[in-house]
Amino acid sequence: MQTVEEITELRQLRAQLAGPLGFVPTMGYLHAGHISLVELAKRDCASVVVSIFVNPTQFGPSEDLAAYPRDIPADLKLLAAAGVDLVWLPTPEIMYPPGFQTWVEVEQVSQPLEGAQRAGHFRGVSTVVAKLFNAVTPDKAYFGQKDAQQVAVIQQMVRDLNFPLEIVVGATQREAEGLAMSSRNSYLSAEQRQAATVLYRALNAAREAYVAGERSGNRLRAIMRETIAAEPLAEAQYVSCADRASLEELDEITDGALLSMAVYVGKTRLIDNLILTSEK
Ligand code: PAF
Repeated sequence: MQTVEEITELRQLRAQLAGPLGFVPTMGYLHAGHISLVELAKRDCASVVVSIFVNPTQFGPSEDLAAYPRDIPADLKLLAAAGVDLVWLPTPEIMYPPGFQTWVEVEQVSQPLEGAQRAGHFRGVSTVVAKLFNAVTPDKAYFGQKDAQQVAVIQQMVRDLNFPLEIVVGATQREAEGLAMSSRNSYLSAEQRQAATVLYRALNAAREAYVAGERSGNRLRAIMRETIAAEPLAEAQYVSCADRASLEELDEITDGALLSMAVYVGKTRLIDNLILTSEK
């Protein structure tokens, strides 16, 4: 496995890799969720490139960029074991050199849910992902369903800007009790980790109601809110039952709708989601 920092060197090494090329963009501190995306890429593609870059422009002023967990040596071990060909580790100065002034803004789909709570977050995500795509020029790029709105924003950007690549979405990987894997879980105490299973419990409570025939968006949102309210260590920031592509809230629910939520457990903000199907 090779590692590289500079864009010109990345381009030279990328040109030598056999196609099709799969790309997994990450912010590091890798867990089984990231590795499952690498495995999907390995299954589909002749070569796999991973980037590790904690992107400052997707953090708001009140979000602690400096405290974001990092462990590059452990990440490189995991990626080598997973059979990755090339890891790109750009610095902030490489991605955002002095005088940088071009931004990618995906409009409507960036606005609700996470976008409403985290001003500028998706502008940072779509800009950095466009830059990563331009440098790596992958045939397929892999994103986790855990960040459902990020998936919707990137898919819209790829369509709107004609990026010649396919977006592949990997299933959310979960701990034994359903907690979605996330680098942010490392902030949780043992007690908070237990409380954090409430996100999956709330999603499942709404799913069970849907499978039993409930079709009211208001009712499904209320079920999620009530389940979270019953967990003393958790506080819901939003719950949603929306169209999975436009992210507009729905009154009447059908298969394919996206249930999602952001919940504080202590100071840690967690998100989770699932796509409804009426299958039992
Ligand atoms: O999902 C992430 O880790 C980040 O948002 C991404 C896609 C790597 C962009 O910084």
